[in-house]
Amino acid sequence: MKPPVDPATASAVIPATARREGTSVSAPSTMPVTRAMFDRLMVPCYAPASFVPVRGEGSRVWDQQGRMYIDFASGVAVTALGHCHPAMVRALEEQARTLWHVSNWFTNEPALRLAQRLVDATFADRVFFCNSGAEANEAALKLARRYAHDRHGERKVRVISTLNAFHGRTLFTVTAGGQAKYSSGFGPSPAGITHIPYNDVGALEAAFREEGGDDVCAVILEPMQGEGGMTPGTPAFLQAARRLCTEHRALLILDEIQSGMGRTGALFSYMQKGIVPDILTSAKGLGGGFPIGAMLTTDEIAGVFSVGVHGTTYGGNPLACAVAGAVFDLINTTEVLDGVKARHALFMEGLKAINARRRVFRDLRGEGVWLGCELDEPWRGKAFAVMQAASDAGLLVLMAGPDVVRLAPSLVISLDEILEGLARLETALNRVLVKD
Ligand SMILES: Cc1ncc(COP(=O)(O)O)c(C=O)c1O
Repeated sequence: MKPPVDPATASAVIPATARREGTSVSAPSTMPVTRAMFDRLMVPCYAPASFVPVRGEGSRVWDQQGRMYIDFASGVAVTALGHCHPAMVRALEEQARTLWHVSNWFTNEPALRLAQRLVDATFADRVFFCNSGAEANEAALKLARRYAHDRHGERKVRVISTLNAFHGRTLFTVTAGGQAKYSSGFGPSPAGITHIPYNDVGALEAAFREEGGDDVCAVILEPMQGEGGMTPGTPAFLQAARRLCTEHRALLILDEIQSGMGRTGALFSYMQKGIVPDILTSAKGLGGGFPIGAMLTTDEIAGVFSVGVHGTTYGGNPLACAVAGAVFDLINTTEVLDGVKARHALFMEGLKAINARRRVFRDLRGEGVWLGCELDEPWRGKAFAVMQAASDAGLLVLMAGPDVVRLAPSLVISLDEILEGLARLETALNRVLVKD
């Protein structure tokens, strides 16, 4: 039979190289770049540091000038296994040679394998994959609204969230997050969201009593508020949220985007809080640096989403899921999770010793390798200055609001790197926290 297209004509139009290796365009991968280009080229949403990181290995990062930084930031709690972990590189390379993307018109093996691991290890029966934390929370909030609508009627729409929360930057999630500075000027915002003070059981009870409590479809909480100041949820508050949700047929959404994937010494933080959520969201450490988000829930709740009601082109992308599978297999081991608890003790010991010498911290708190160092009275508002001084001293740290220096190193950071990083932190504190 004659082929539908004459191969001779076809190869003249589409040379084999274009199909197999790609045409060689003048891709300037070696074009010299400088930090100044950021200010010229990028939408000005960020104010990145004055240097440009170019390479990472474990808990060390190098900039364009070859200067080395100890990484206590992990790209905001993302690179949970450090930079370029060999198992992640292997998973990515293997998948890069196998299959990159097929869309959700097809399923794929890495996504199914990752979903099975998450279901086996948690309360959940079902998983929805997406690309970021905000998208995971967006899916969770939409699912809670749809569940209440389908099961309990159109009036049950209210979401209770907390002041100072952070749940992402889509319009729904930024409105659910209780920080006006991120949502103002973008209105009209989605309606039906009530904010109460975090850890205030009385306010939570009162919020449920409004309208007889029948209109609440969900409570959304971080087990510890990360961006909002590294404030741990009290057991009483987290347990009250669980109890009130059950009593009022509302869903408890736990945002474990920052607290999950081993950061607190458990696979997910809820596992050591005596509560089980109805919906859990994960991202950040899930991909260890490759963008992926996930929403986990039960069979019963997932059942209100049917084909076409929600989705995203890249959700469950094979590259992301293959990397996340490798991350999961490394993190979900006693060795790594117990190691996180051991590292917590080392960090606390080191930070307390610095504080005994310098008296700069009012409080040292956190869980696992997720630590908040709250600056004492004369240094209030100086967390950003500490962050800058730290990078001058060769250390990457984070802030959580103006008063809290936040540390979120790799879960497997070495003892030497912890000690070297703490020494550099003390140098930075000595430089910046001087009395006028
Ligand atoms: C608790 C929490 N939820 C949601 C998000 C949003 O995640 P993403 O930036 O991936 O959208 C963050 C990010 O910092 C977070 O810390």
